[in-house]
Amino acid sequence: MRKKILVTSALPYANGPLHFGHIAGAYLPGDTYSRFQRLQGNDVKYFCGSDEYGVAITMSADIAGRTPQEHVDIYHEVNKKFFETLNFSFDHYSRTTTSHHKEPSQQYFLDLLENGYIEKKETEQLYSEEEKKFLADRYVVGICPKCQYDNARGDECQKCGMAYDATDLIEPRSKIKGTPLTLKKTTHWFLMLDKFKDKLLTWLETKNWKPNVVKFVEHYIEDLRPRAITRDSKWGIPVPLDDAEGKVLYVWFDAPIGYISSSMEWAEKQGKPDLWKEYWCDPDTKLVQFIGKDNIPFHAVIFPAMTMGQNQDYKIVDELPANEFYNLEGKKFSKSEGWYVDLEDFFTKYTPDQIRYTIASNAPETSDSEFCWKAFQMHCNAELLGKYGNFANRTLVFAKKNCSSAVPKTHTLTTIDEEFLAGIKNLADKAANHYETFSIRKASQTIMELAQLGNVYFDTKKPWVSAKEGDTQSLETAIACCIECLKTLAIISSPIIPTAAQKLWELLGYTTPLAEQNWNSAISTTAPPKQQLPQPSILFNRIEDEQIDAELSNLVSS
Ligand code: 2FM
Ligand code: ZN
Repeated sequence: MRKKILVTSALPYANGPLHFGHIAGAYLPGDTYSRFQRLQGNDVKYFCGSDEYGVAITMSADIAGRTPQEHVDIYHEVNKKFFETLNFSFDHYSRTTTSHHKEPSQQYFLDLLENGYIEKKETEQLYSEEEKKFLADRYVVGICPKCQYDNARGDECQKCGMAYDATDLIEPRSKIKGTPLTLKKTTHWFLMLDKFKDKLLTWLETKNWKPNVVKFVEHYIEDLRPRAITRDSKWGIPVPLDDAEGKVLYVWFDAPIGYISSSMEWAEKQGKPDLWKEYWCDPDTKLVQFIGKDNIPFHAVIFPAMTMGQNQDYKIVDELPANEFYNLEGKKFSKSEGWYVDLEDFFTKYTPDQIRYTIASNAPETSDSEFCWKAFQMHCNAELLGKYGNFANRTLVFAKKNCSSAVPKTHTLTTIDEEFLAGIKNLADKAANHYETFSIRKASQTIMELAQLGNVYFDTKKPWVSAKEGDTQSLETAIACCIECLKTLAIISSPIIPTAAQKLWELLGYTTPLAEQNWNSAISTTAPPKQQLPQPSILFNRIEDEQIDAELSNLVSS
């Protein structure tokens, strides 16, 4: 049955250019999953957008000497373009400064208030005498109350992952000035998360998430306390109350609502403004949210609680594939420290498929992993070119010469042919299972297993000997079976390497877009005999040692 699947990837902050580290966590896994589910015939809608409010933005805008609006305008475009370059298949990529986002965010707040889940409290906040203002969490550093890390951020500890209020920090100081901060009275609104504890625990029992995610969440729920959801700032969504002058919604309150507002904007652009409701308000929709591990509390606890407490029947997350971190040659990506990959330069030399495949084959699914230039070269040369490209090329060049550039007929099958065809089907099923269970790492391995199965079959069948001996039937059967393998290879690899897969599909003589096929029927429908095969061409380029050496020395010297 055709299933509605809503897919989201965490909204990235529009405060700087994204890098491969981000792509590996929440984005490539989301894109491959969406592509796979579309091929399965499901009704997939994939939404994302820029996260544009909050202190992460004001802080980097301050440093860059821009207004927050100027800053997000720049990086929204930069990041949107980056996703386009990488061939992302979002149905819509929005931003949280659009008009579509304000109303639903304020409505969430008003509903929660009306339902008794928000309380107003006079609190004491950290105030900088020197800067004459309350400092938001990110402008504050101090000692983590849990692990004692002495340079912990004001909203959560980057060392132990604990989320807290800045006032919980020990010996807080201004991040910019380094001066100590004092506590001063101010009014804020708090989401009473503790009221959701039982509901959240019951709901969590129905989830079959990764054990580390469940454990983390259970632990987190144990210690739920009211949490401030407003801030003293000019940059954000105004708190929709008369007595809230100068107060805005906390960015983590409005950001997840961005998934919904992105789909509202999408629906409007379709000319069907209510279409988004058919997804968000249908209990049969499956909501799959891809995130990095640092975003678990907000997606597994806080946003579900917010949604339980407001008045609309919105979907709450069903699957939460949370990935670990992806580094660069053993260290965090850091542009300021010269430890990064210049993306503009990268895409003049390498292709989106090469990086997509490399990230997928070493995706940080169960532990942190990293991008290494040497491994990149190996994945591109030994696997994409050496196994996948080589099998395609030798089959298609042979078919051009010996089968009049057309798909040949299959004659009587030998046991070897039958085992080969069964092997193809088996690996296609395996790949489907890996995509379904969010393992693009295993899916990449299965793709290469299939390419290698094809190469071994070609070597075993030796169609060039059949050609010499005039055994047309054996030759044609072998090539027809190889074409079946290539067709399946194109289909199962397309979520990860969509461009090369489409090219291979066309080299097999198909003229319709591969992305519009149905996984099962395309795999089980044999390529029609006599289908014309165009002139073979290369799918992947070789990366030379000198190129990789230059990249590595760039990294070290910059
Ligand atoms: O961690 C981040 O980059 C956040 N901008 C993620 C937000 S996800 C969602 F809630 F919007
Ligand atoms: Zn800590």
